[in-house]
Amino acid sequence: MPVPDIIAIDGPAASGKSTIGKKLADELGFLFFDTGVMYRAVTWAALSAGVDLDDEAEITRLAQTADIDILPPTVPDGRNCDILLDGKDITWEIRQGEVDRNVSLVSAYRGVRTALSNQQRRIGLRGRVVMVGRDIGTDVMPEAPLKIYLVASAEERARRRWVEQHQRGGGAGYPEILAAIHARDEFDSTRAVSPLRPAPDAVIVDTDQMTVDEVFDKVWALVREMERS
Ligand code: CDP
Ligand code: CDP
Repeated sequence: MPVPDIIAIDGPAASGKSTIGKKLADELGFLFFDTGVMYRAVTWAALSAGVDLDDEAEITRLAQTADIDILPPTVPDGRNCDILLDGKDITWEIRQGEVDRNVSLVSAYRGVRTALSNQQRRIGLRGRVVMVGRDIGTDVMPEAPLKIYLVASAEERARRRWVEQHQRGGGAGYPEILAAIHARDEFDSTRAVSPLRPAPDAVIVDTDQMTVDEVFDKVWALVREMERS
């Protein structure tokens, strides 16, 4: 079998999906597609337009009409790609705390998920893609021949986020980050539509005691194994 041409990576916040997914995509010459940015873009659009986040119909309308573009990076500031909303660069805006706190609510709306996952699937079907999210293996691309589900304890994931934010200068305190991780885990895994969970045929990788390089080596071995089978 050739290299699997759709690789799905799911898992909770800060489990390492983007870090590993980007490295893998670069290594294979595939597109790296972080689907979380689409939910973040809709959340940011709603916040900046002053839309009531409980107004499911209005948020769904936003998700259906927002023009979200994900393009190769044009600014060398550590970004993996440029995220444009209706032509405006919102790459860093979507990482703000307010988006973090509200994105799970927005992404739980059925209409929002339908609108965004249809777009994601269209891109995924082109192949040669590493797709990262919460429901890629279960719902968006269930046919992906290789599905990876990364996990780590909430404490370890909060530590990673804390380190990341402090390297960039500033950021919230550890207890606050840990509480936000717990809240998002709970929301993402208990929602009615496409809850966060591994696909039955996903390979679960517990990254708690592993470095990025060790996780990458493990994932790379899975790709090669599939190639040989
Ligand atoms: O990077 P991090 O894991 O913190 O989050 P993200 O991947 O940017 O996703 C932000 C939020 O979007 C998640 O907490 C989910 O609520 C939602 N999401 C989703 O529901 N389905 C996806 N395929 C991707 C993200
Ligand atoms: O995309 P997701 O939210 O799942 O995680 P990420 O944005 O890739 O962030 C994980 C952070 O933890 C990054 O700063 C990584 O360098 C770090 N990290 C990791 O991803 N995996 C490890 N095994 C150890 C640290």
